[in-house]
Amino acid sequence: MKILIVKYLPSGNDSYTAELLDFFKSRIKKFYTIEELDLLENIPPVHNLVSMKAYKERNFGGKELNDEQKKAIEPMDKLSLQFKNADLIVFAYPMHNFSIPGIVKTYLDAVIQKSILFKSENNESKGLMGKSKFLDNAKVVMKIELDFMGFIDYEFVHASTGNDVTRKVHVANAQKMLEGIIKKWNL
Ligand SMILES: Cc1cc2nc3c(=O)[nH]c(=O)nc-3n(C[C@H](O)[C@H](O)[C@H](O)COP(=O)(O)O)c2cc1C
Repeated sequence: MKILIVKYLPSGNDSYTAELLDFFKSRIKKFYTIEELDLLENIPPVHNLVSMKAYKERNFGGKELNDEQKKAIEPMDKLSLQFKNADLIVFAYPMHNFSIPGIVKTYLDAVIQKSILFKSENNESKGLMGKSKFLDNAKVVMKIELDFMGFIDYEFVHASTGNDVTRKVHVANAQKMLEGIIKKWNL
């Protein structure tokens, strides 16, 4: 099984999210292929005039692209196929300003491509990831994106770490949830 971990951990060694991610990795079976995409090291591409025109002409208009267009959209295609080819995707990021950090949304904007992660059917969009769903926009945005891509099975693990008094309890609860998910998915 191929696991893709998409992470954005700007707190580095002080990151609680990294702690939970390490906990998860320490608990799953060891023989999985794990690919880690660190968004800090691989800043996701933002669509520009050329790449957006290429995307619309190719993925919606069915047109062949010229070399300049192919070059412009290539970084998005690479990320989209990496995402598509994973059997399990793990996102690890902190909540920033009641939502997912901007760079994670930029990543989603790069990977969510018509005909790769969704298709149009009877004038409706249908997600193609039919392989695997919290008062905060972080979950809402992610839930909308995952549902749109057709994910059937997904879980959110949230640990509120802003308060020194309650942090330990929240992290311990999150670890329990991770163990429950690992058991449920037999990872
Ligand atoms: C710029 C910024 C915005 C934040 N916004 C929120 C927020 O909206 N809600 C929240 O519960 N915590 C918020 N926090 C607290 C972080 O989510 C918390 O410190 C978390 O531990 C960060 O994850 P990390 O330790 O993996 O970096 C924010 C922190 C920062 C630095």
